[in-house]
Amino acid sequence: MTNGLNSMPEGSAKGRKRLGYAVLGLGIGMAHADAAYASDNADLVAVCDKDPGRLAKATEKYPGVTAYADFEELLRDDRVDIVSVCLPSGMHADFAVRCMEAGKHVLVEKPLDITPERARRIEEARLRTGMRCGVVHQNRFNVDMTPIKQAVDSGRMGRLLLGTFAVKWYREQSYYDRGGWRGSWAMDGGGSLMNQAVHTVDLMQWLMGEVESVTSTMGICNHRIETEDMTASLIRFRNGATATFVSTTCAYPGISTEIDLYGTRGSVEADGDCLKTWRMMDAEDEDAEEAAMLEAYGGGNMKAALSDPARKFGHDHVVEDMICAVRDGRDPEVMPADALHSVEIVHAVYQSARTGKTVFLTHE
Ligand SMILES: NC(=O)c1ccc[n+]([C@@H]2O[C@H](COP(=O)([O-])OP(=O)(O)OC[C@H]3O[C@@H](n4cnc5c(N)ncnc54)[C@H](O)[C@@H]3O)[C@@H](O)[C@H]2O)c1
Repeated sequence: MTNGLNSMPEGSAKGRKRLGYAVLGLGIGMAHADAAYASDNADLVAVCDKDPGRLAKATEKYPGVTAYADFEELLRDDRVDIVSVCLPSGMHADFAVRCMEAGKHVLVEKPLDITPERARRIEEARLRTGMRCGVVHQNRFNVDMTPIKQAVDSGRMGRLLLGTFAVKWYREQSYYDRGGWRGSWAMDGGGSLMNQAVHTVDLMQWLMGEVESVTSTMGICNHRIETEDMTASLIRFRNGATATFVSTTCAYPGISTEIDLYGTRGSVEADGDCLKTWRMMDAEDEDAEEAAMLEAYGGGNMKAALSDPARKFGHDHVVEDMICAVRDGRDPEVMPADALHSVEIVHAVYQSARTGKTVFLTHE
């Protein structure tokens, strides 16, 4: 079994082997490849895609990288320690499990897969093979999420009462037509919620806790697709809190990602990576504290990166975390078990919308 930590040549940086990185699927996979190529701790050694045009583009961009059209050949490449699985969502479990069984550590794109059962297979394979497995939910590392998560977890906001989440994005019809698999139940597993808003579902459950039940509706409002381009849900949490969650890809031209939390002792509101409101009852001077917080966290990742160029966001952060996790023998920041609940929630929303009934999530 290939294990980067057991086969480190002497004389390399920090006495450790530079890990071999590979990317499977070269759409968003190019962001993974960019990050691995730029990393000080890994070498991008291979890319794999069945599309020759995408492979050619990658080999031109990353000279010296081996291009595979066949996944089986990638699996046999002993230089590869870590594989980013960036295939259509309904293929994640099949390919991530094969990678781990072949002794590769795996970083899986979101969603973990398109059903809870398939997503669980990834966690089972991780436990069975002992390989490291991370999941791309990069919005947890947006600049504004650190103080928001701290305010919730420290109890500073008091007891959470209400969350309102709205992912008001826009996708043209050509977006769905281009990918083939997008907007299909078989491979996308849903539409605006499973594909676009699953990031915000992840943030919701990370901030507010385990979901107990969902009551939802959905529709295909303005696209020719099989799945949905609008969902609206009422969500109840095990801790007694309530949330509303709206997702759409019909909000021209793409408006906002609202993440709003209201507790007994404070309120925060954000639009994606930009903090908008920060009101804490226990602040010495509420206005001054809010002004300072908006100055620090109101400008989003771009502004934060300008003031600290070493800081990584988005895929750069997640890929580097995966590499360092393997190098240091620790778990990555987001694990399959962390990502599974989002798939369960999305699945419950679809079930509720189809049946017109409240769906209760079971917890093992
Ligand atoms: N984290 C994010 O912000 C983010 C952004 C976009 C997409 N994604 C996720 O990444 C995944 C891929 O999305 P995308 O937009 O890049 O899709 P895409 O269709 O652009 O790319 C998928 C690639 O996989 C290749 N492929 C399919 N089957 C293959 C096989 N058997 N062997 C080799 N290559 C194969 C295709 O040729 C294609 O190039 C999805 O799960 C999506 O949800 C995540």
